[in-house]
Amino acid sequence: MSSINNNFNSQDFLAKRQNKLVSIAKSPLCKTTPARIIACVNQKGGVGKTTTVVNIATAFAAIGARVLIIDFDPQGNATSAFGIDKRKCQQNIYSALTEGISIESIKVKTNIGKLDILPSNVDLSAAEIELDDIDNREFVLKQHIASVQDQYDYIFIDCPPSLGLLTINALACANSILIPVQCEFYALEGLSHLLKTYQAMKRNFNKNLEIEGVVLTMYDKRCDQTHNIENEIRSFLGDKVYNTVVPRNIKLSEAPSYGIPGIMYDLICSGSAAYIALAKEMMLKISSNASGKNNTNNNEKEKPMKKVKTA
Ligand SMILES: Nc1ncnc2c1ncn2[C@@H]1O[C@H](COP(=O)(O)OP(=O)(O)O)[C@@H](O)[C@H]1O
Ligand SMILES: [Mg+2]
Repeated sequence: MSSINNNFNSQDFLAKRQNKLVSIAKSPLCKTTPARIIACVNQKGGVGKTTTVVNIATAFAAIGARVLIIDFDPQGNATSAFGIDKRKCQQNIYSALTEGISIESIKVKTNIGKLDILPSNVDLSAAEIELDDIDNREFVLKQHIASVQDQYDYIFIDCPPSLGLLTINALACANSILIPVQCEFYALEGLSHLLKTYQAMKRNFNKNLEIEGVVLTMYDKRCDQTHNIENEIRSFLGDKVYNTVVPRNIKLSEAPSYGIPGIMYDLICSGSAAYIALAKEMMLKISSNASGKNNTNNNEKEKPMKKVKTA
């Protein structure tokens, strides 16, 4: 990308920033083997899926986790967020799904230690149609990911803004879904639809799929509507909604043009502070759920959710 400023991508700069991030993001790491697969999903575009995946994956890597991002959106925004030229990625997630190229050979190291990515570009838009014809079309990603799942602690899938076959593939192989929600009028309607899809996925393709959590993004505390929507979502989904909210912050939207995650671009802005706090909250919840499951012998059922009231 021509707009990438080389100062931000120099090895020296990145190493120093990552060291600082390691000290800020310090939190006990819950290692999961094989990797815990978290699909970041919302059929609405522009709600912060990619920004959440890029920053949380970076924070997890800083905590010491081995992390893989699967860029599963033909827009390839997660790929370019790390300064990787998606047009040059001739072997990408599309090649793996449709041409049988091994995941190992398409994997790219990002400029962040311990964090790899399976890049994507516009080629992936054809996959939705090409996969439609094959047997077990919902499980193609799952079959491919199995070969690398032992190499990582966490795999984040950055889903496209739809509930089509690509997203179904992501949900069929994920352990959980992470849902970014922007507090605006149509959010409740979208969330209700997404939760129906989640229940259908559990019934048909992945009975163990869980809700990792819901994160309120681009949060504007000065706006009354934000509080009204937040109250609705928290009263319906209870502790599924993270306490940490991510404010609207210009630094987070500037960072991709420099090819580094927001939390590396500016360590102390409000957006970075929120993503670092969110990463810690997520890690704590994963650890406590893991110890809870060990204690209850995996027999605990997920609590039923109240129905989401739509607009
Ligand atoms: N908290 C935030 N504050 C300001 N801008 C944000 C924030 N989160 C995301 N953005 C910007 O909003 C746009 C959409 O975010 P993105 O993460 O790409 O959403 P999605 O992946 O859901 O389409 C991008 O330009 C991104 O940089
Ligand atoms: Mg995106």
